[in-house]
Parts: sequence; structure tokens; C-alpha cells
Amino acid sequence: MITVENESIVKKKREAAFHAADMVEDGMVIGLGTGSTVSCVIHRLREFVEHGLHFTAVPTSFQTEILARRNGIRLVTLDEVEELDLAIDGADQVDRNGCMLKGRGGAHTREKCVASVAKRLVIVVTEEKLRESLNGSVPVEVIPFAYGSVRNVVQMMGGNAVLRESGGKDGPVISDNGNFILDCDLGVIDDPYRLEVSLDTIPGVAGNGIFSRYSKKTTLVVGKEKKIEVISF
Ligand code: 5RP
Repeated sequence: MITVENESIVKKKREAAFHAADMVEDGMVIGLGTGSTVSCVIHRLREFVEHGLHFTAVPTSFQTEILARRNGIRLVTLDEVEELDLAIDGADQVDRNGCMLKGRGGAHTREKCVASVAKRLVIVVTEEKLRESLNGSVPVEVIPFAYGSVRNVVQMMGGNAVLRESGGKDGPVISDNGNFILDCDLGVIDDPYRLEVSLDTIPGVAGNGIFSRYSKKTTLVVGKEKKIEVISF
């Protein structure tokens, strides 16, 4: 999905991403999320690699894998590590309690796997992404066989599920895991934990974009007009 951002947002994003990258220390094993914010993080990490910092990363998508390799970052797969010192990622929305909505880039299932084994989760956003309550469509990754039945359950829950399609290909977007993505509008999300668990229990769902369980280990880095704010929950 292509989003057009103004100069001020790009600057805030870059500064916050650099701040997050500065948290990486020698010898760490880190997780790298997906998206434009993480791309800025990777560009900063390249400088560290060039200056001799040793660290290893688990990428959460083909996009991140390719970019990280190009920038000299040593990669391993998730099955090669037991835990991660920290994971750095972006988000689409963050609420007042540190719950997040992710998955604009369709990488949320792997991102959640990585977040779950990270000792610390560093989420980088610009101030435009902060919300009182989450209120966007929830990306739900589904195995292709079950996309119709999952869509019906979401509709019975009072939501509207739209199969994600892309400008670069006819037909549905295929995730890095070979699945479809349903963007599910369920209105304002007052209870993210409940909705996250409900969506995950629908047969055929591989993962959804609500991240409600990691607030306590999250460090939120917010890019603002004149400063960077770092928030812990
Ligand atoms: C990808 C994601 C991204 O982290 C999220 O969409 C934020 O992306 P960006 O940094 O480009 O704004 O969840 O699935």
C-alpha cells in the first residue's frame, strides 16, 4: 500500500527511528518489523555496522530481509533464537494504554511472533498515530481456504470485512506466509484484548493486527514537531 506523507511527518519519523536504532547495543539479537519506519531504522543501523557494531536481526518480512541484507545486517531466522533482546517496529495506531493496531503492510502475523519473544518492544510512531482508542480497520490474515467463512463470522460480529487487493497485482494481496488479508472494520475498539482474542479464535485466522498484550514491555518512541517523546506503560 502506498501512502503519501508530507515533509514534516517524514522528518519526525526519521528522527524517531534513529532514536530507536540508537538503543541497539553490541552483541544484541534484535527483531526488525516491517514498513517505512523500520526502513529508516535499517538505514541508521547500516552506519553502526560500518563502525563495527556486532548484532544479529530476525526480519519479519521479505521487504525487511532484502533491505537488511543490502545494508550489511547479519540475519537469522526466528527458529534460531530463543528470545530477542529487543524488537523495533512501527505501528498504524497506538492507544492511551499502549495497545496497537498494525498490519497496513500485511506483516503483522510475523511481527507478532517476533514481538512475543522480545524482552523489550520498541515501537516508533509519529504523533499523528496516537489515539484515545483504536479506531481503524483490523487487518486479519486468513488462510485462503477459509476467507469466506472468516468474513461471515466478522459480519456476524457486526463488522465489515473487505478482501485486501493491491495496485501491483490483480486479485487478492498474498502475504509473505501465502495467505489472504481481510481488512475488518469493527468500529471503535474499546476493548482491544477482547477483540484480539475473539478474532484469533475464528478457524482459519493466522493472525490479526491488534497488539494488546505487550504494553508492559513496550517503549514507545514518538516523533513530534520539536522533540522526541519516549513513553513506557
Ligand atoms: C506492517 C506494519 C507496520 O509496522 C505499520 O503498518 C507501520 O508502517 P509504517 O512504518 O510504514 O507507517 O504493521 O505490517
